[in-house]
Amino acid sequence: MHNSRLTGRLLLAVTLFLMETVVSTKTVTTCDNSYNVHRLSCDFGVIGVQSALYGRADSETCSEGRPANQISDTSCSQQGTTDVIRTRCDGKSVCELNVKVVRTSDPCAGTYKYLQTNYTCLPAIQVTACEFSVAHLYCDVGQVILVYGADYGRRDQTTCIYKRPESQITNVDCSNPTKKVAESCNGKNSCIINANNAFFGDPCQGTYKYLEVAYVCEYPTV
Ligand SMILES: *[C@@H]1O[C@H](CO)[C@@H](O)[C@H](O)[C@H]1NC(C)=O
Repeated sequence: MHNSRLTGRLLLAVTLFLMETVVSTKTVTTCDNSYNVHRLSCDFGVIGVQSALYGRADSETCSEGRPANQISDTSCSQQGTTDVIRTRCDGKSVCELNVKVVRTSDPCAGTYKYLQTNYTCLPAIQVTACEFSVAHLYCDVGQVILVYGADYGRRDQTTCIYKRPESQITNVDCSNPTKKVAESCNGKNSCIINANNAFFGDPCQGTYKYLEVAYVCEYPTV
């Protein structure tokens, strides 16, 4: 009796710890400037973007040294920002982008803006395979693969770049989410995927691409 109560309490503590570390939301804010880098990262797992704002929602954030008239509009938000950040970052363990990426129009001229992203780190395994390489997905004995997401293309200038000519790595608007990995691998204990155009088609000719996969291992539901 005493023992099981202790076990129960321990379990609760462990569960709370996991929820704290795995599911808690992170917030990153970057003040508007052409050179500022917006960086999302997960020590464990992969990024799942919840919401992103380019604009201004309060008068404190990124207000240092700014005149009152540049920080008084607190209902400024550019449409579509969340989608842009999701496209760039979901499923990665680290995601860096320039604020320029979201500054496609000006939702409130004269107001000093910032980019803010809320995201969680989903407990997934992340695999990256450069074009013409092979991605190996595998789980422990008795478990099966469940793919969260996969993208074959190019979303940054830091992945799979070694000795590649500039011209092949500059196009980072080549996000190409694909269901093919899930179709091939879900329910299997291990799985091999060729990261090439023959399998995925070519989403951006002339660009050296890579495959990013996020998956979890589960006990099969009977
Ligand atoms: C991020 O979360 C905080 C805390 O809940 C909230 O105040 C803020 O508005 C959120 N930002 C975005 C961009 O959703």
